[in-house]
Amino acid sequence: MAYRVPFVNAPLHYQRIKPEIDAAVLECFTKGDLIQRSQLASFEKNLAEFVGVKYAVGLNSGYHALALSLLAAGVGPGHEVITVAHTFVATVSAIVHAGATPVLVDVGMDRNMDMNLVEKAITARTKCILPVHLDGRLCDMERLASIASKHNILIIEDAAQSLGAKFNGRVAGSFGSAGCFSFYPFKMLGCAGDGGAVTTDDPCIARAVRLLRWNGEDRETGEYHYHGYTALLDNIQAAILDVKLKHLPKWIEHRRHIAALYHKALAGIPGVELPDWEKDDKRYYDGFQNYVIRVPKRDTLRASLKENSVETLVSWPKPMWQHLALRLGEHNLPVTEALCREVISLPMSAETTEEHVQITADLIRRFYSAR
Ligand SMILES: Cc1ncc(COP(=O)(O)O)c(C=O)c1O
Repeated sequence: MAYRVPFVNAPLHYQRIKPEIDAAVLECFTKGDLIQRSQLASFEKNLAEFVGVKYAVGLNSGYHALALSLLAAGVGPGHEVITVAHTFVATVSAIVHAGATPVLVDVGMDRNMDMNLVEKAITARTKCILPVHLDGRLCDMERLASIASKHNILIIEDAAQSLGAKFNGRVAGSFGSAGCFSFYPFKMLGCAGDGGAVTTDDPCIARAVRLLRWNGEDRETGEYHYHGYTALLDNIQAAILDVKLKHLPKWIEHRRHIAALYHKALAGIPGVELPDWEKDDKRYYDGFQNYVIRVPKRDTLRASLKENSVETLVSWPKPMWQHLALRLGEHNLPVTEALCREVISLPMSAETTEEHVQITADLIRRFYSAR
């Protein structure tokens, strides 16, 4: 079904940069640059520069960015990692696969880790705190850094949804021992399939992730240092990402413009909570990977928007621990549970237009005024 207001628009996104993408891909094929060639090195250099760190290591997914950073940082059996349940399941799966125990805390009013709950969750086994910068907004990294340094605990950032977003002028992925990114096609920076990266200032973490992504092998000496993984970012994906990275700042500005239009068009609807927190705290520069509102009667609103050809998304309708196969135990995280019932993501991408915002906002306003 073609929506009048699509959630994202991949064909249009491609059309806008087609000559550059086509040239980059063609170069890879004609030169035979398929695995770990100059395009990957170039993208890693440019990504590290963009994030403001010394190293970036290209991987085949955001999941592997998380999993390999945890392993590289020495997180394993017997350790606890504090994180949130209001996130994509990969955040928690990476902790479980590292052999550690995820300790889930609730989120606060901006739907990111509630810093008031972190210290209470720390035990003698806590090795790492894994904040998730959700929807293009960073966690309060000032509070988190002071908690982590007081207790001598690592921070690894899940920045999968926040490339280019800032806190106190610093870019997501530059605060912790490692930053983890996803280049899934509809992320802030998306490739043509799956991709990810780790950013870090720590040469030991960078080296360990480089070895782990290539089955543990040091390519110079042939020595295997780990039982590793096949988790390299494909060279063609790196070439595409390198082209797109140059456009990212203007795409983020576009998202911020669209968000400002949503803020204005949706203001004052009783019960509708907007992600317009930046105005109250100048430390944040939000990237708006997603524009998520919190509403009453969410599912009925969503059905009504669909009937009117507006595509939306719900992340996530069921608390993660209630998926019993994940064996995460019982939890009492009231904000997370409420968000599962109340959040809805509106159309948002570098291709979203002012008209899309107007159509969507008018329908939402009409929906609530009819009730
Ligand atoms: C918050 C968060 N963490 C981790 C991931 C995992 O990234 P990937 O899908 O590239 O493995 C995602 C991707 O959806 C995400 O949104």
